[in-house]
Amino acid sequence: MTHMEEKRIPQHVSIIMDGNGRWARERGRERVYGHKHGVESVRACTEAAVEAGVKYLSLFAFSEENWGRPEAEVTTLMELMMDAIAREVRTLMDNGVRFVVIGNRKRLSDKLNQAIDGLMEETAGQQRMTLVVFLSYSGKWDLLQAAKELARRHAGDPEGLEAADAAEFDSLLATAGIPDPDLLIRTSGEQRISNFLLWQCAYTEFYFTDILWPDFRKEAFRAALEEFARRDRRYGKVK
Ligand code: FPP
Repeated sequence: MTHMEEKRIPQHVSIIMDGNGRWARERGRERVYGHKHGVESVRACTEAAVEAGVKYLSLFAFSEENWGRPEAEVTTLMELMMDAIAREVRTLMDNGVRFVVIGNRKRLSDKLNQAIDGLMEETAGQQRMTLVVFLSYSGKWDLLQAAKELARRHAGDPEGLEAADAAEFDSLLATAGIPDPDLLIRTSGEQRISNFLLWQCAYTEFYFTDILWPDFRKEAFRAALEEFARRDRRYGKVK
């Protein structure tokens, strides 16, 4: 497919879910209250993405840097993740959604890793959409682990290393096999990438909105898709 005839629905939508803490503070509540409502937005956006025909929806749920948050908040976020996994199996299966987790999983608890593996195995055959949850992920972590793997692979093979290309490097990233995002949404008014997908966002369209994540529901998701449809993607070329 050439870029001219490209369908106007993004194949891969990625979201930096931001603003849970501020949403809670506006209501005089603890940050955790915002995260809980944020889970509802995850459900709403997953549904909206499936309905729109998006093939990959990916969510930045927890960064490597987030480990530095207060222990109670980290624990709650992990528990929310566990609960969501346990609760959503049926819905994912009914909607044809495959579930994938990407990140530095060595840092996750055994219990969470088991729950993740279970859900990944159970939904492995689903083909309507892939829901990617980035957990304990950071862009620099991914680039570094891929670079090390490339070096190991070509140890004692300088010609092979010299011949290595972008496609080979792609295959070593934690996101291997997943197309680069066409659209990256960040909520809550912040306009930065915060060590999320670095290599993979080379030609991604960015969409920033002031809406806080717990308020980002179906209508807001559809508005982002509409804006994407109006963008003119040239990939460094001229039309
Ligand atoms: C950003 O808000 C949000 C997070 C760091 C966590 C997002 C996680 C969830 C919504 C939990 C569930 C996820 C899944 C996939 C089931 P913030 O805390 O940075 O807000 P602030 O910037 O206003 O402080």
